[in-house]
Amino acid sequence: MRRGSSHRVVGGEGHATTWRAAGAPELRGARRYAGAVRHRTLIITNDFPPRQGGIETFVREMATRFPADGVVVYTSRTPGGPDYDRTLPFPVDRADTSVLLPTPQAVRRAQALIARYDCDSVWFGSSVPLGLMAATLRSTTGASRFVATTHGHELWWAGLPGTRQVLRRVARSCDAITYIADYMVDRLAPAVGPGANWVKMSPAVEASVFDEVAAEGPGGPLARQARRRWGLGEGPVVVCAGRLVKRKGQDVVLQAWRRVLARYPEARLLIVGKGPQAASLRELAASLGLGRTVRFTGGLPWESMRLAYAAGSVFVGPSRNRYHGLQVEGLGIVYLEAAACGLPVVVGADGGAPETVRQAETGFVVDPTSPRDVGAAIVALLSDPAMAARMGRAGRAWVREAWGWGERYRTLATLLGRGDELSDAGTSDGGASGSAA
Ligand code: GDD
Repeated sequence: MRRGSSHRVVGGEGHATTWRAAGAPELRGARRYAGAVRHRTLIITNDFPPRQGGIETFVREMATRFPADGVVVYTSRTPGGPDYDRTLPFPVDRADTSVLLPTPQAVRRAQALIARYDCDSVWFGSSVPLGLMAATLRSTTGASRFVATTHGHELWWAGLPGTRQVLRRVARSCDAITYIADYMVDRLAPAVGPGANWVKMSPAVEASVFDEVAAEGPGGPLARQARRRWGLGEGPVVVCAGRLVKRKGQDVVLQAWRRVLARYPEARLLIVGKGPQAASLRELAASLGLGRTVRFTGGLPWESMRLAYAAGSVFVGPSRNRYHGLQVEGLGIVYLEAAACGLPVVVGADGGAPETVRQAETGFVVDPTSPRDVGAAIVALLSDPAMAARMGRAGRAWVREAWGWGERYRTLATLLGRGDELSDAGTSDGGASGSAA
């Protein structure tokens, strides 16, 4: 196969596997060579780049840490998918559907992939509903280790009787089910009950991607580039990044923004991301008379995310619980990314988000429903640049020390029965994002 070519494998209607075959090894029978036992994991996930979001980031960071000949991804169709897949050194198989569900067809496809690539383990990048396939795959294929990862949406599944049963079945049929925050397991484990092996595996950040941003600081070339790109002027910039959904609290930031402008009329708010609330947030900004003091970037390619953080001197993301706690922020990778850039971070006192901030040390945890509190935290940081810089440095040091993907990968590989590989390549902190910047 020629370098850079892509190919289709494993017949079957409605599926295409793309693989940039640069120096790709022969896959079958590759389990044992040079005396070492080798493993291959099938990752089954609905959420995979180029879609944007926390689960996508999580799965990307894990997938790119496996040895390239030791992983295969089975995921859904998305615009730009095949082009993205060609940049990856491992095969990605896309079903002909934008939402991958545990249908008989999907099970058959997973069985075929496990057989074809001789996989000995399966990781469900998001536990429900795809983890429902675990029991069948265990009894019908050569895969013997199954791990499912929970994020934030599982609280919803845990809260309703019918869907709770689904979560239970997944948890009990996998060798381990992972959780991203203490807040989450405190609620999920009682709902699931006995018979589940809960293991912490929180999201993390590839801090080296943001080294340049942190080193340059708010006056550096990246910050100037960002100011030019989004027309941010010369005043202080506050960044708020994340999918535009109600729970993320961009509406409260907009409501808080007048208070900030009252003290800092030159300040600019940069709202990054796309989502169903895009139109109503723009309307809200207009109805509040915020005019050109608020910039919406829309969804950005991953390479541009660091530029967005570079623009800011404060990051704000007041996610709030909704539907009586059934919809929460499980943790929040954007807070870690902002901290890695050396920004002080303001988060909401709901869900797992407070676990990403050391109160008054790396930022502030505030009432996410209160525009007054959110505004006060922003003003406090803008009015004391020395404190903001100190918090930014502390946050960056903390994420570098405690929030690396390498440690999470080691947890996952061990759970998947790949512990014997861990001294090999793939266990470092340098995954895909290491080259994405
Ligand atoms: N490329 C791109 N473009 N990426 C973006 C954009 C954008 O416009 N906006 C956000 N992102 C990226 C961020 O850089 C980050 O890596 C990710 O999308 C967002 O992750 P989270 O902040 O964690 O939010 P989420 O709601 O999408 O993620 C869910 O899963 C996470 C992982 O378990 C939530 O449950 C989170 O709480 C959880 O941390």
